[in-house]
Amino acid sequence: MTQATERVNCAVIGYGVFHDFGRMHCRWIDAADGLQLAGICDVEPAARERAAGEFPQVGLYASVDELVADDDIDMVSIVTPHFTHADITCRCLEAGKHVVCEKAMATNVTEATRMVDTARATGRKLAVFHNRRHDGNYRAIEQTVRSGMIGELFHVECCEESFARPRNWWYTEQARGGGVFFYWGPHAVDWVLNLVGSPVVRVAGQTQHRVWDHVDIADEVRAHLWFESGATALITFSWVSAIPKPLWRILGTRGGIEDSKLGNKSGAYITGYQEVLVGAAGQGQIRVVSVDGDERTEQMIDYLESDWLTYYRDMAAAILRDKPLPVTGEEGRMTVAVMQAAQESGDAGGQIMEMSRYV
Ligand SMILES: NC(=O)c1ccc[n+]([C@@H]2O[C@H](COP(=O)([O-])OP(=O)(O)OC[C@H]3O[C@@H](n4cnc5c(N)ncnc54)[C@H](O)[C@@H]3O)[C@@H](O)[C@H]2O)c1
Repeated sequence: MTQATERVNCAVIGYGVFHDFGRMHCRWIDAADGLQLAGICDVEPAARERAAGEFPQVGLYASVDELVADDDIDMVSIVTPHFTHADITCRCLEAGKHVVCEKAMATNVTEATRMVDTARATGRKLAVFHNRRHDGNYRAIEQTVRSGMIGELFHVECCEESFARPRNWWYTEQARGGGVFFYWGPHAVDWVLNLVGSPVVRVAGQTQHRVWDHVDIADEVRAHLWFESGATALITFSWVSAIPKPLWRILGTRGGIEDSKLGNKSGAYITGYQEVLVGAAGQGQIRVVSVDGDERTEQMIDYLESDWLTYYRDMAAAILRDKPLPVTGEEGRMTVAVMQAAQESGDAGGQIMEMSRYV
């Protein structure tokens, strides 16, 4: 760490083309007080070439081994395919680096536990990049729920559904991606667990694999969750839903919330995600119904601003001032556990899985 200036020297591992996401991490780090982008690592020469064009001032590394040998790097952000996360994370923690690991944290709980245990053993910080908690629609929903406007929350549905041919890429390979749930599911599961705020005790899943034979993952997954508070949730991800459900439907004892997503492209409800650095103004509205006796009122509430820089500001504070991590390894592992339990339950015909079996 650069003690004189109190700056954390950071490197990004993975500068891929699919979502341009290594580049986004570089831009967020560059813009966050207390963090300094110092390096980019990718095994692909073409990726390093693109990185050099965009960030000519930083060091380039052709392998994780090369990167961890550089004592000037304090923190790494891992933006590589899911199946690589556990090994790269543990390697970096063991070399004394703090780690931000992209979602999904891992492809299964065993890997996630290895990552959490290595962070504990090395005394380094491990955070999982569930940055979508800062999406403007989610922030508006969370604020409305916390305000008590819909009473006590008892059921949440978060559904990303479309009828679309999945692309053939590592995300749609069971072994490298983790399964159908692991592409968009980490966002949904993290949102729902955060919103309900009670430990999840049981999960049951339903999976369908009947249309898209060119990939080895299921066409859709439905996860039913039961929480300690008695609340329940349904999370779905589908490539075979000709009549999609709204993105969010939330029920409380005195009302409900609905958010019909904008557009039908996964991840595109908030435009500007890849380009707008600090925040994007609200671009939609949630529908809020309040019930008081026989009286029923309805209002539309604007999405809040999306502020995706918050995550790295919090990470800087965690390293420099020992503040709480933006999202802990244990939280990331719980998201993986719910996805794994839902997929295993679906494959077993819908058997109810006790979460104590997983974490
Ligand atoms: N938080 C979000 O909203 C969000 C959005 C998009 C992607 N992601 C996540 O980002 C991660 C990367 O996804 P992507 O779509 O950018 O993938 P990608 O395939 O486009 O890019 C991955 C890059 O990692 C590099 N790489 C692979 N193994 C490596 C290794 N051992 N060392 C160094 N480099 C290596 C590859 O060469 C490639 O350039 C995934 O975890 C994905 O889920 C998150």
